Formats: sequence, structure tokens, C-alpha cells
Amino acid sequence: MVPPKWYVIVMICWIAVGIGAGSYLLRQEAPYGRFSNKKWGPMISNRWGWFLMEAAVLAAFASRIAFRQFNWKSPSGIMVALFFVHYVHRSLVYPFMIRTRGKRMPIVIMLSAILFNTVNGSLLGIWFARLAFYPADWFRSPLFVTGAALFIGGLAINWQSDYILIHLRKKGETGYKIPQSGLFKYVSSPNLLGEILEWGGYALLTWSLPALAFFVWTCANLIPRVLSNHRWYKQHFPDYPPDRKKLLPLIW
Ligand SMILES: NC(=O)c1ccc[n+]([C@@H]2O[C@H](COP(=O)([O-])OP(=O)(O)OC[C@H]3O[C@@H](n4cnc5c(N)ncnc54)[C@H](OP(=O)(O)O)[C@@H]3O)[C@@H](O)[C@H]2O)c1
Repeated sequence: MVPPKWYVIVMICWIAVGIGAGSYLLRQEAPYGRFSNKKWGPMISNRWGWFLMEAAVLAAFASRIAFRQFNWKSPSGIMVALFFVHYVHRSLVYPFMIRTRGKRMPIVIMLSAILFNTVNGSLLGIWFARLAFYPADWFRSPLFVTGAALFIGGLAINWQSDYILIHLRKKGETGYKIPQSGLFKYVSSPNLLGEILEWGGYALLTWSLPALAFFVWTCANLIPRVLSNHRWYKQHFPDYPPDRKKLLPLIW
């Protein structure tokens, strides 16, 4: 189905805002994680901040598609399931795995992420609930096959790399170390590379405007973060491996 004009206009504006957000983040590090900063007002515990901001996507997405009967073996059903796999892990597993005792993030960061996640989850939910139509043989299309390979590969890289980072700390520790295993041998932020691959793959496999917008927003959020992380490691660890790239093994 061709999306209605209002939906296309909303999507184009949303993509433009994402590009604007990315250019802002290139100049201003988002103050969470290693860049968390009390200057941004009241704070909340990292764990609950992550839980609340990521649960917002699940709630917005699930509320849109709740009343649609999906055939879970159809292309749309599989696409919705892939989204749930990522976000059930991100909102219900990841926040309770991180070793973040005593660490906090500004509430304003959590609220801005909740806003982004609610809009993003709603736009994708509306797509699957009301607009998406895929022929039954979509599974065999080059777009689906390539996109699914990128999504699954990206998910595996993201999960493995986050797992390595989390387990650099013993329980109760909060400091930072140089990660040495997995794709960290080649790049500073393989977890963010995995996330970018995932949503690039999702844009391909769904061939849809809301997934394209999510991919643009993911790059806008994460590419500035990749640059900041790489700079931060070099500033804080004189023995940081000099050949390690920022995001793309051997290239950049
Ligand atoms: N789709 C999107 O737009 C989007 C946006 C943001 C994040 N994400 C995803 O959310 C997840 C977390 O993102 P993030 O930016 O918080 O990742 P991150 O900075 O790499 O941190 C991940 C976890 O590992 C810890 N950690 C990081 N580096 C460490 C080191 N050198 N030594 C010891 N512990 C270390 C962090 O602790 P601290 O918190 O104490 O630093 C945190 O608990 C990632 O999977 C990312 O892809 C997605």
C-alpha cells in the first residue's frame, strides 16, 4: 500500500529533525554513561533511566499493533517479532545486566529519549498496524534476505560487545578498562556498529519510511557517540591500541 500523504510528510519532517539532532550531537556530547554530568539538572539511577526510556518504545509500538491479528509467519509478523526481540532485550534484560551501581543520568536525557522512543515506536507501530502490505514471497526478495542478514549479524555483534563491556567490571565496580576481546580488537565501539547494522538491515528488510527514519536517527545518535568514545579512550588510556579504528575495522 502507498502510505497516505500526511504520513509521508510526517516522516520527511521526522527524518529532517533526526539529521538536525545528529549535527547538534556532533558539537555537544549527550551526558549519559561516561559523559554523564550533573550540570544537566536532577538525576535518576542509570538502571531505572535505561529501563524507563527503552520500555517507552515497547509500550508505544505494542499499543499500536495490539488490536491487529498478525499471522506471525507472514512477512509483517516476522518484522514485528524481530523488533520485539531487540526491544524486549533492551528494555527488560539490558538494564538489569549493566554494572552501574550508584551511577546516574540526567532526567532530561531520560525524558528526551522517552520522547524519541515514543514517536519512533508509534510511527513503526502505525506502519505495521495500518499501512504495511508485503507479498507472501517477500522473504525471497534480495531486500529481505540482505536486510535480515544485516539485522541478525548486527544484533549478534551488539549483544556480544555489550556483554564484553559489562563484564569488564566485577560486581560493584564502576571504573573503565580497555576492552580487548571480540570486535574491540579492531574498533572502539563495536556495540554501536552492531546497532547501526541492525537498523540499517531493518530499513532494508521492511523497505519502509519509518524504518529508514529510525536508521537515520540511530546514525544521528550513535556516530557522534562513536567519535566521542574513541577520543575519550585515547585521552584516558595512554596505552590505548594505536591501530584500533573508531567504527569500521581497518577503515575508519
Ligand atoms: N538506537 C539508538 O539510537 C541507541 C542510542 C543509544 C544507545 N543505544 C544502545 O544502547 C546500548 C548502550 O549504549 P551506551 O552508549 O550506553 O554504550 P556504552 O557506553 O558502550 O556502555 C555500555 C555499558 O558498558 C559499560 N562500559 C562501557 N565502556 C566500558 C569500559 N571501557 N569499561 C567498563 N565498562 C564500560 C557502560 O558503563 P557506564 O554507563 O558506566 O559508562 C555501560 O554499562 C548499546 O547497545 C547501544 O547500541 C542505541
